[in-house]
Amino acid sequence: MRSSLIAGNWKMNGNLQSVVELVEGIKAGNAGKAELAIFPPAVFLMKVGGMLAESEIALGAQNVCDQEAGAFTGEIAASMLRECGCRYALAGHSERRSLYQETDQLVAARCAMAVASGIIPILCVGETLQEREQGITEDVVARQIDAVINLSGIASLGQAIIAYEPVWAIGTGKVATPDQAQEVHAFIRGKLARLNADVAEKVQILYGGSMNPSNAAELLSQADIDGGLIGGASLKADDFLTIAQAV
Ligand code: 13P
Repeated sequence: MRSSLIAGNWKMNGNLQSVVELVEGIKAGNAGKAELAIFPPAVFLMKVGGMLAESEIALGAQNVCDQEAGAFTGEIAASMLRECGCRYALAGHSERRSLYQETDQLVAARCAMAVASGIIPILCVGETLQEREQGITEDVVARQIDAVINLSGIASLGQAIIAYEPVWAIGTGKVATPDQAQEVHAFIRGKLARLNADVAEKVQILYGGSMNPSNAAELLSQADIDGGLIGGASLKADDFLTIAQAV
């Protein structure tokens, strides 16, 4: 039985004061039913890591460098994320792919470095509206996952999490129906099962894209949805905790 993870991707929002308040609010209201993880902007990781030191809430980064160390201005090494207390790092969020031109290969290299450094990567995959309308959702998701398998092998996904985030549902208020989401999650698990049944059974697949307190329960009740990657609704402690209660 896979456990559920409710992850809050705060993106580039907040300031030191609001971040501290949000962490305090989540800590105070955490009922401990689902595993929670929060992904603040990188400059606040050290601070939040300190605040979470004695708590059950995990810390994650919004990205991780594909290189170990050296002249990579603006990047953050997995070893540094570990020093901040990170357990997780996102890789290949659609905003990184579309706004900063991160390729499948770069995202796969980021995942590989995370795994090698003891950080659990959350590999984000998903199709644009145009790709869905063209009927190539599965091809796109398969290609994004294959880049990781080709570089690091199927076993590496046993040390990773996958987040299915249809691009058209991110920040739009347009949520995938539970059936639409389940269909893609089942496709992903089935694809992995053909290569390694253990990995497929074990890997957590999160749904992301306009998940909120009113739609979370139905999405989270689907057989292959093992949690959520939440953007906007993770910026309010009450909403984030209500989603966690829906597990
Ligand atoms: P929203 O929940 O704001 O749609 O964002 C989803 C997301 O991108 C999480 O990574």
